[in-house]
Amino acid sequence: MGPMVRIGVVGYGYWGPNLVRNVATKVAGAELVVICDSSQANLAKAHEAWPETATVNNVEHLLSDYNLDAVIVVSSAPSHYPVARKVIEAGLHCFVEKPLTLTSLDAEELVAMAEEKNVRLMVGHLMVYHAAVRECKRIIDSGELGEVLYLYAQRLNLGKVRTEENAFWSLAPHDVSIALYLLGEEADSVSAVGADYLTNGVQDTVFANLHFPSGKMANIHVSWLDPHKIRKFTIVGTKKMLVFDDMDPDNKIWIYDKGVGEPKDAMSYGEDLTLRFGEIRIPSLKMREPLADELTHFVDCCRSGEQPESDGLSGLSVVRVLEAVDKSIAEGGTPIKLVSGV
Ligand SMILES: NC(=O)c1ccc[n+]([C@@H]2O[C@H](COP(=O)([O-])OP(=O)(O)OC[C@H]3O[C@@H](n4cnc5c(N)ncnc54)[C@H](O)[C@@H]3O)[C@@H](O)[C@H]2O)c1
Repeated sequence: MGPMVRIGVVGYGYWGPNLVRNVATKVAGAELVVICDSSQANLAKAHEAWPETATVNNVEHLLSDYNLDAVIVVSSAPSHYPVARKVIEAGLHCFVEKPLTLTSLDAEELVAMAEEKNVRLMVGHLMVYHAAVRECKRIIDSGELGEVLYLYAQRLNLGKVRTEENAFWSLAPHDVSIALYLLGEEADSVSAVGADYLTNGVQDTVFANLHFPSGKMANIHVSWLDPHKIRKFTIVGTKKMLVFDDMDPDNKIWIYDKGVGEPKDAMSYGEDLTLRFGEIRIPSLKMREPLADELTHFVDCCRSGEQPESDGLSGLSVVRVLEAVDKSIAEGGTPIKLVSGV
């Protein structure tokens, strides 16, 4: 590898331009070499925005002709697996947008291939690089909340209605990745209910419950058929409670010194439980663009050989949850056991 990590980007649709812009302008040590898209119209947009950067319309060409160190895959979700497979087979480091793949079998294969080829595989679990989520993790790990008992996430809005993937695959990969990151555990079972009101077989609203080996619980509610625009995480600990409100532009984290005290003596019941209503603390946060931090981390890992925080295994864990949610919905809410590891 030369002084700069030479990067190609596959996919210049809705999200690709954001990654391209960050690689080109915000990530130290990265060189944007080539952009690839199978759509001529989108490739023309890439050329217009980045006239100095090469453009190609197929992945084979991108892999053979540009002496790349790494490839960012930001094409549509069904193409992640076939494209990432070629990238890893070519011995290049690979960043794949979320969800890593559409099946856990495919994700397992990518993780094993990356290990065999000794290349870094990273998944675009963007929220793991969000300053507020990292602060939540710091607060949890500091013990300020006591022991975390459970958390719930709400990602609700009216639209954008999709017809090919359900609301959970579309909206919840972020929440699942945040929940696994904050709790530092893999779920061992998942149950979910959902309903398809607008498109046959495509759930618009899903309520999913993740159960963890420690007994912790995470509930994730996603919907594109809701009057509210909400992106909120509530975390309940034995000492304090925390709310992360991503719709609040200034005050994203609220720590409530609220809780239920121990009974005054072991023989007493409910009436002796004491409720505590203390102060609210709003920590100040230095917000940065998470995409720049995420891609800087990828480039650093390509160079150092370290495993990214959102590595292939974490991508696989999220895909397993998404898959299990679909299965549970199909079975009317039955809990589905999850495996861990490759
Ligand atoms: N992290 C986030 O917050 C976030 C936000 C939006 C999208 N995404 C992810 O980014 C990815 C892209 O989403 P999008 O909304 O930009 O999709 P999109 O459909 O707008 O764009 C995908 C682009 O990839 C191209 N493409 C598809 N297959 C290809 C192939 N085999 N070779 C070359 N080009 C190919 C298409 O022509 C299209 O231009 C998805 O995986 C999505 O989940 C992530």
